[in-house]
Amino acid sequence: MANVLITFPIFSNYLKKIKEKHNVEILNYSKPLGEEFFIKRIKKYDGIIILLSHKITKNVIDEGRNLKIISNYAVGYDNIDYEYALKKGIYVTNTPDVLTEATANLTWALILTVTRRIVEGDKFTRKGRFKGWKPDLFLGIDLEGKTLGILGLGRIGMAVAKKASSFGMKVIYYDIKKRGRKFNYFELEKVLKLSDILSIHLPLTKDTYHLLNKERFNLIKKGAYIINTSRGEIIDENILIKALEEKRIAGAGLDVYEGEPNINKKLFKFKNVVLTPHIGSATVETRTKMADLAILNVLNVLEGKEPLTKIIP
Ligand code: GLV
Ligand code: GLV
Repeated sequence: MANVLITFPIFSNYLKKIKEKHNVEILNYSKPLGEEFFIKRIKKYDGIIILLSHKITKNVIDEGRNLKIISNYAVGYDNIDYEYALKKGIYVTNTPDVLTEATANLTWALILTVTRRIVEGDKFTRKGRFKGWKPDLFLGIDLEGKTLGILGLGRIGMAVAKKASSFGMKVIYYDIKKRGRKFNYFELEKVLKLSDILSIHLPLTKDTYHLLNKERFNLIKKGAYIINTSRGEIIDENILIKALEEKRIAGAGLDVYEGEPNINKKLFKFKNVVLTPHIGSATVETRTKMADLAILNVLNVLEGKEPLTKIIP
């Protein structure tokens, strides 16, 4: 029997199984956890299942003498010093694929919500201010014929791109590497200049941190919308706020923030910005599949097998 730590209440079809086979400790932390928390406890565990707000640093990994697997309940793994873990022979796993469609759908929900002013219209209606149909009431924009620029054509970016054809949108993309011929690749600067809607689907790395900085914001087409369902730190949020204040962009749909769960309160004042609380993968089906995968990865490794979805450097 191995020792397994799950830092948060998990709902999974495999919870019973892992409890039968191993000593499983389940904590109740959905809030962010830093390295001090893990340094104190990590020594006894062979495997851990954690959230994206739980930081596994080099120091934690050094303390984790029995650690064989770090199973992240998320597709992004910027919360883990995975290069160091892999160097020490510890598996790091994530939950790709199972959340692709849910996250792509939330992206489209944000695109439609900001371009059709759904949240503003809802507030207006609830306040009893709807006094009859009007030609200019809450005018948005059409998507047909517009250009969707995707930053990061991985699994999620590709799923977003595929759905674009049903809205009659033209798709262009930028990525670290060119990915196949289905969609048109352009340099980042070009995508920024040409897109009516920019949607970010990159992982957070040293290279993508503040990818949308001041210089790049200046290249974004005037009146474009920005959608982010990846990681907040990819956008310099202060610059985004400035661009909104100066009305250089038409609006934004944000599911992620710099320094989550803290949110820059200035974002609250814009009517043309829709804010959701990091819910890209938040459906019952998807979250269950993520939990199943996170547990199966641990079960496999503790049986001496390869995990299903390991991070490869
Ligand atoms: C959520 O942001 C995830 O990385 O799964
Ligand atoms: C996420 O896994 C992506 O590849 O977009």
